Amino acid sequence: MSEQRQHELANLLAIDGGMPVRSKPLPWELPGAHWIGEEEMELVGQVIRARSPFRFYGPDPQRMVDTLEREWGARFGHRHVLGVSSGTAALSIALSGLGIGPGDEVAVPGYLWVSCVSAVVRSGAIPLLVDIDETFCIDPEDLARRISPNTRAVMYVHMSGAAGRVAEVAGICRGRSLKLIEDCAQAAGASSGGRAVGRFGDVATFSFQLNKNITSGDGGMLATEDDNLFRRLVALHDLGYPRNAAGRLDTSDADCQLWGVGARMSELAGAMVLAQMRKIGQITGAMRGAKWRIRDALKDVKGLAFRNVPDPAGDTGPFLLTILPDAETCTRFVAALQAEGIQGPPGSLACITMRDWGLHWYFNIPSLTERRSNSHDGFPWTHPANLFARNYDYHRGALPRCDDLHDRSALLSIASTLDDRDVADIITAFRKVARVVIA
Ligand SMILES: Cc1ncc(COP(=O)(O)O)c(C=O)c1O
Repeated sequence: MSEQRQHELANLLAIDGGMPVRSKPLPWELPGAHWIGEEEMELVGQVIRARSPFRFYGPDPQRMVDTLEREWGARFGHRHVLGVSSGTAALSIALSGLGIGPGDEVAVPGYLWVSCVSAVVRSGAIPLLVDIDETFCIDPEDLARRISPNTRAVMYVHMSGAAGRVAEVAGICRGRSLKLIEDCAQAAGASSGGRAVGRFGDVATFSFQLNKNITSGDGGMLATEDDNLFRRLVALHDLGYPRNAAGRLDTSDADCQLWGVGARMSELAGAMVLAQMRKIGQITGAMRGAKWRIRDALKDVKGLAFRNVPDPAGDTGPFLLTILPDAETCTRFVAALQAEGIQGPPGSLACITMRDWGLHWYFNIPSLTERRSNSHDGFPWTHPANLFARNYDYHRGALPRCDDLHDRSALLSIASTLDDRDVADIITAFRKVARVVIA
């Protein structure tokens, strides 16, 4: 083939028959999973060798969950930390810990994860949708406008690895006497203005599910500064009661006789999260470094905008969110990138339009739009204390900015093991595709 023809083919988009930028898939997203190694095996092995996988008692407890809670608190500056079985359980426990239930309304963003709204509905409260801004997190101005006399709490969700305008939201909550729950599931290790996420509100939740910055397959965490709330969280995450020094349930305290959800963290999960937590700076540092190299290299590309990250130093970097001029361009942009080889192995969701991001968008959650109930009586929608919300509409159209960003933005996962070649290929592909696709 002549040199000129080769040049033409390299410039022609792969989607139009040209030569792709790369043929090898990008690594899987799953940030923490790539870093599982000897350290995890050693600590998990210790638990297995001691035959003591339960945190509260056993033949020879290794105190993995205790150590994790202590080190996590010291590292991120939380007074109280509690390991639990998942991020979804953590959210439910947080809401119950704050005493939220029927008659209450909890503000949630329209870009979230189904767990956020599910925890609110299962608590008996009503979700109040709030619009997002270009941080892809709650827009403080929209929140201030939508707060009603029934609003009791705000669930601020640190989406896609970075904090948005959380300090402003915390200020609104303080001014309006609202409780603030920070869902940090997607942003463990992130900060804003030098303050770790989870330290702006009353209670914070984390997840260690496989897609998160660090992982034990499944697992979660709660953090709070409040001594009384912590006592309730401890009882609620277990069987409704605190435990004594021997690790046995203690029913004697009338102030702490509750209904627990059985969501304790096992020592196996604790051992894994402990090993992963000790690597969190390396994992997030790798993603942040790669992501911002890509963003910086693309900042002169006309028509390409990125998510607003108010504090890039506190970003953990697992996702590059790109905002295109319109939905049609966005579809073609992502298809063209995929054809250039900017995609992960089969089964990964490394390079997609936000329209393919499922239950992260409020109107894609049928149990919300159709007001489904787990019980035969339609609870909580039919509860007399919730009649204030009978005309709330959760279908598309409720949040104009959220709908617009859903339509015309794209998501690229930034794996925690991208090498220089991967980063260079991503930059080349973005520039090549943008030149043709963005008018
Ligand atoms: C924002 C958010 N909240 C909560 C959760 C729930 O976490 P888990 O899967 O550990 O229950 C997730 C992830 O799954 C999430 O992304």
